[in-house]
Amino acid sequence: MKILVTGGAGYIGSHTIIDILDNTDHEVVSIDNFLNSDPETFERIKAITGKQVRNYNIDLTSYSTLKNEFFLKEGHIDGIIHFAALKAVGESVTKPVMYYQNNLNGLINLLKCAQKFDVDSFIFSSSCTVYGNAEQQPVTELTPTQTPESPYGYTKLVGEKILSDLAKTKLDFQALSLRYFNPVGAHISGMNGELPKGRPNNLVPVVTQFASGWVDDLVVHGTDYETRDGTAIRDYIHVSDIAHAHVLALEYLNTKKAASNYDVFNLGSGNGVTVLEVLHAFEKVSSLKLDYQLGPRREGDVEMIYADNSKATSLLNWELQFGIEDAMSSAWKWQKFLNKAKSGDKVPL
Ligand code: NAD
Ligand code: WQD
Repeated sequence: MKILVTGGAGYIGSHTIIDILDNTDHEVVSIDNFLNSDPETFERIKAITGKQVRNYNIDLTSYSTLKNEFFLKEGHIDGIIHFAALKAVGESVTKPVMYYQNNLNGLINLLKCAQKFDVDSFIFSSSCTVYGNAEQQPVTELTPTQTPESPYGYTKLVGEKILSDLAKTKLDFQALSLRYFNPVGAHISGMNGELPKGRPNNLVPVVTQFASGWVDDLVVHGTDYETRDGTAIRDYIHVSDIAHAHVLALEYLNTKKAASNYDVFNLGSGNGVTVLEVLHAFEKVSSLKLDYQLGPRREGDVEMIYADNSKATSLLNWELQFGIEDAMSSAWKWQKFLNKAKSGDKVPL
């Protein structure tokens, strides 16, 4: 099969490409305009898999470019995994039009092309953000979604709705929305990982960059939550486990096991972990002491969210390979790889 991965140079897209190349015979082609990534990602993918992935530097928000420069040139595509989106929750509040324009126009253009060029399998990157501040934990796929707090969250909820509406009208079109919880960690080689542009917002890159002196402070946002140590609980899931779920999801669609032509899956570990537990896991695997500060709650944060992942484990046969300490040690290995690159050592970066 020939699979289009959009956002293939990004954090989750690149790990998914590695998994596809390592575990299947599928051909992969990527579209990424490097809005939040760099072409060097494909050098790292090559160093890990031995394979060169072709990438089209195309902005998905331009329908004519997508149609003429990709679909007309590339020939038949068997399935699409759509990662490409802007993902900074805080930035989406200050730049809502940019987020709606990029995430929704990109999705709509891709779906127009999928219809025009008969691509029947579609996997969409959604997010646990659609559950908002759910009362019952863990959340299942039946837990009601809530009005999102941010434009980013809306783009995921609306994206899911567009797909489910399209699936109702086109029965040979099969789509899945995969709701990721908190993807963390890096490839086991330490040669590919998360490299956000600018100061990171997410906890794990802040931790590893703080430990390397790239950022000046590490603040625990909120210590008065009603949790076992007062800090917020999340479901941290290794990026390579998330990546592998996409290979299984493709197989699930391809073997027509799905009972309906649109469905939703939670991709989380099933474990709720506090912020302090993350910091302590990092300290354990790195043998470093983190000089963190305790601070107030961060606006918009929920107290607790973690997944019931039993639907993905049973229907997709998803088995988790990694835990929180694996995630922290691989993230740290990746950070040390980045430190080497910064110091001028020759690494594929
Ligand atoms: P990322 O920013 O690392 O990767 C996204 C990639 O898409 C980037 O390489 C970017 O350059 C590309 N891109 C963005 N807009 C584009 C456009 N208009 N045209 C072409 N390329 C474009 O993000 P990620 O962490 O890999 O996230 C992948 C997907 O998963 C996103 O849809 C994100 O919303 C979703 N998601 C991420 C998380 C997370 O915490 N990382 C959690 C839940 C859901
Ligand atoms: C985790 C915990 C912070 C940084 C976001 C999106 C969500 C999804 C995943 C895309 C929180 C705390 C963080 C720091 C801290 N993405 N923290 N100090 O906010 O759970 O989820 O990424 O869909 O939609 O909202 O992830 O990594 O930012 O935070 O104490 O310097 O770590 O307050 O409790 P979050 P995060």
